[in-house]
Amino acid sequence: MSEIIFLKETSSTNDWLRNRCESLSDMTCVTAERQTSGRGRRGHSWETSNGMLAMSVLLKDPPDVSALTARVGLAVCDAVSELYSMLSEKAGIKWPNDIIIENHKVCGILCESVKIGDCINVICGIGVNVSQSEEYFRSVGLLNAASLKTLSGIELSEKKLCETILEKVSIRAKEMFCACYGEYKNRVINIGREVRILHGDNERRATAVDIAQNGCLICEDESGRFEVSSGEVSIRGIEGYL
Ligand code: BTN
Repeated sequence: MSEIIFLKETSSTNDWLRNRCESLSDMTCVTAERQTSGRGRRGHSWETSNGMLAMSVLLKDPPDVSALTARVGLAVCDAVSELYSMLSEKAGIKWPNDIIIENHKVCGILCESVKIGDCINVICGIGVNVSQSEEYFRSVGLLNAASLKTLSGIELSEKKLCETILEKVSIRAKEMFCACYGEYKNRVINIGREVRILHGDNERRATAVDIAQNGCLICEDESGRFEVSSGEVSIRGIEGYL
């Protein structure tokens, strides 16, 4: 069983692992009740409220780094399916890895790599809305977010969810992306939709048409088909978040 380190407070669980990366073993997991500088994708900050699970997992020199972020998304879907069976079919992935249920974001994922010598280590940061109320999300203006508790009626501890996600990440991290490509594609909700591709201050409109074998999103506009890689890009719907 991998080790889970429980912290009351830290700046960011991703940074906590990054700073100790060399001395910690593969699959070390850290979780914190409060993050003072939690980070989201594309330089956004990430609020850690009561009822949110903030966890990070260290993968040391994983066998297949390609589309690892997609496999972490699948691992979260696996955990949700096991613990909240009524949400199993409803859990979708907004490419590359936001977990969406009934049009609401329940989880965000931030994977970051740390190169030490020839080894690429990956820190998988996962923030899950476990039990916050609708009122909470309204009060902080997060109208696209919801918790697993309000969506399922089931209240589980953050510890239980953390243990289950860790177990699923350890399985998915050993898998090659090609082995779960079909499963990933079935979960992705953007395919067939008009999207806005945000990169820095630039925006490009296109239709999301497929997932490539390397995990990239294949889009199409009047100039033809092109691949979008997850790096620093965000995808939005034409009218809003989805
Ligand atoms: C996103 O949707 O933008 C990704 C959010 C990732 C948040 C998690 S919470 C645990 C870990 N620590 C961080 O600072 N960020 C990730």
